Formats: sequence, C-alpha cells, structure tokens
Amino acid sequence: MNHERTSVRAPVSESTVKSVSRRSRIALIVLLGAMVAGCAENAPQDTWDPAGPNAQVIHDLQWPVFLVAGIVGLIVFVVVAYILVRYRDRGQPIPEQSHGKPALEIGLTILPALILIGVAIPTVGVVFDLAETDDTECVVNVTGQQWWWEMEYPEQDGCNGIDELIVTSGQMVIPTNTNVLVRGTSRDVIHSFWIPRLNGKKDMVPGRVHSLRINADEPGIYAGQCAEFCGLSHANMRMEVVALTPEDFEEWKGGQTSAYVAPEAGTLAAAGEQTFISNCARCHQVNGLEDADGEPIVSRPDLNVWSGAAPNLTHFSSRNTFAGATWDTLRPVCRDAVWGSEPATFGEKYLEGVTESCLNQVDLREWLRNAPAKKPMYTDPEKLEPTDGLPRGMPYLALSEDQIDELIAYLLDRQ
Ligand code: CUA
Repeated sequence: MNHERTSVRAPVSESTVKSVSRRSRIALIVLLGAMVAGCAENAPQDTWDPAGPNAQVIHDLQWPVFLVAGIVGLIVFVVVAYILVRYRDRGQPIPEQSHGKPALEIGLTILPALILIGVAIPTVGVVFDLAETDDTECVVNVTGQQWWWEMEYPEQDGCNGIDELIVTSGQMVIPTNTNVLVRGTSRDVIHSFWIPRLNGKKDMVPGRVHSLRINADEPGIYAGQCAEFCGLSHANMRMEVVALTPEDFEEWKGGQTSAYVAPEAGTLAAAGEQTFISNCARCHQVNGLEDADGEPIVSRPDLNVWSGAAPNLTHFSSRNTFAGATWDTLRPVCRDAVWGSEPATFGEKYLEGVTESCLNQVDLREWLRNAPAKKPMYTDPEKLEPTDGLPRGMPYLALSEDQIDELIAYLLDRQ
C-alpha cells in the first residue's frame, strides 16, 4: 500500500493551460449571460408575481420547495466540486478499494425520503385545493386550436347571469374577485393553457374536458401562452385574461351581446361588409350578418379549415390582440396606455376598444395581405394531402389593397 504522492506528473504544456483558462472564461460568460437573461424588467408572465388566490397558493408552496431544493442542490455542488479538486488525478496510486458503508447508505436513503415526504405533504394539499370546483361563480369554455384559443361563455346564472352565448377569442374577459372555472379542451392536438400570474398550466386535450380555476384580484391584463408544443406556430399561440370590475364586466357583456349594426350604405365599411361576405364569411362568423335576401350568414369553417373553426369576428374591435393574440390591434402608444394603466382606470381604457386613431394598421394589413407569411401555418396547397386539402390556419387570400382598406373599415366597426 502506498498512499504517498509521487512526484510524477503529466507534462502540461503552456498552450493547454491557456486553452483551459479560455474555455472556463467562455463558460463563465455563458453562465452569467444565462443568469442575466432572467432579469427582465417588463415580465408580464412572472410566476413569482401572483395576481390571484390560485397563483398565490402555488407561490406560497414554491418558495419553501425552491428553498429546500436550493439548499440540497448547493450542498451537492459544493461536495462534488470539493471532491473534484481535492482528489483529482495527480498521478498518485489508486487508493485502497472498499465496499459497503451501511450507516451512510441507510442514512442517505432515509434523509432524501424524509425531505421528499416533507415537500409532498403541502404539495398534495395544494393540488387538491386547486382542483376545487364547488365554489365556481362563473364558467368559461376554452378550446385550443392550431394556433389560437376560443373562449365561450355558455348561458348560465354564473358571471352575474349570461342569457345569450358569448363567443370570443384570444382574450378571456372575467370579473375580478370571482372564481372562474375554465373548462378546456382542444380541436386538434394537445395544447396547454397557461396564465402564469393566475394559475399553473393545464393541458387541453382533444376529447377531454380539463378544468382550471382562475381568479384575479385586480383589474388588468394577464398575459399567457400555450405551454405545450403544438406544431408550427406554437410560439404564436398566445392569450390574455382581462380582468374587469364586476360593473365593467357587465358593460363588456352588454357590448358582446349587442345587436349587429350594418354599416351605412355607401361607406367604405359597407363595401367591406360585401368583401367580408365574399372572402371571409366562409370561415369567420359575424353574428347578425345577413345576405341580400335577409337570410343570416352562417360560417362553415368545418368545411374549410382542418380543425373546424375560425375566430368569431362579431366584436373584433373590442379585443386588443388578434391572430392568436400574437399581434396587437392597438398601435404601441395606445397599447401601452391600456396595458400600463392603473387598476382604477383600466376598465374604462379597455372598454374603449379599438378606435380609428389607435388601430394597428401595420400588422393588420400585413396579416390580411398574406397571413401565412406573417405567422407560420400549414396552408401550402401542395402540402395539404394529409388533411384532405384543408389548411390549418388562415390561408393566403390574394386580397387587393382596396379590399384590405374596405375590410379594415368594416372590422373597425365591429365593436
Ligand atoms: Cu398550442 Cu402550443
């Protein structure tokens, strides 16, 4: 047995030392960069900034769990680093080999088990707490689809009474301090509904209904995004929860169920109505729209779109995002005024909807000109064999600039 260190060392060239130190410097910069990337000042999807009771119980749980996991992680890193440095190969002889250390083995089995039990008890409690549906005060059905979310408010006594179906997309409007039960599913693949400041993620699965409870303390916009990879535009499948005071929510409801007002004859918007009927109404529903014979025009996206639906545009200009909540319907200055407004004035700002001077014409025009060029979607006619020629998402419609002008005037009136 010879535990003495020998002085035999592998010769280390100067260039090896240099390349090692350069590599560790690069590694350090990458590590720091990754850490700094987490320091966003404007972070609307911050799970560490809960805005309602459901997110709060998650927050109250994740703090101690992160703390425990952090301490364990730190101990492991320090011990590993110490052993790596202290016992690194200096050419010393291999130490004596041994097997079995019962006390240590049993100890290191029991200790993690105890830690995990300690973490599991409050976690299971929170899981059951979040699954509670007995106290529901409002129901919203949510359906995921490549690549947008539809929100539907069924007739109910909840939400302070809804006596006419409301269908919208991208933005879910809810009253503050109300337990809203989201009943979610999907029309195509698995999506995940996630509003980080209001609750955790919930997968939305075709053929199943999963529920998720949300509740916002204060009026405001709570941003979210699809959290399950769902194809080409997964990254462009966003959504927002818009919380309004119960009074403002009533006003919103009134707007969403208001009767269709046809544009005045001879206006650009009236031309837009015709352009809409001939180019858009096959897929997009506008409630109350009638043909020349006074018959209601009912869209049939199930005949034209693989997933079977397209956003209802009846109140397009009451929402301040479009195309899967990927772009704003408001110009940046108007958008900031809404998103940045104080809770006390938020409702009033939001309910103004999209005005002519605030309309984000740039993105809306680009979208109408060539939607699949702006947002990746499965619309190439030559590649639609697997879906029997039906696109997923909005196809290229070859609209003229005049038609786009008309459509914009028409959409602007859909308050
Ligand atoms: Cu839907 Cu990702």
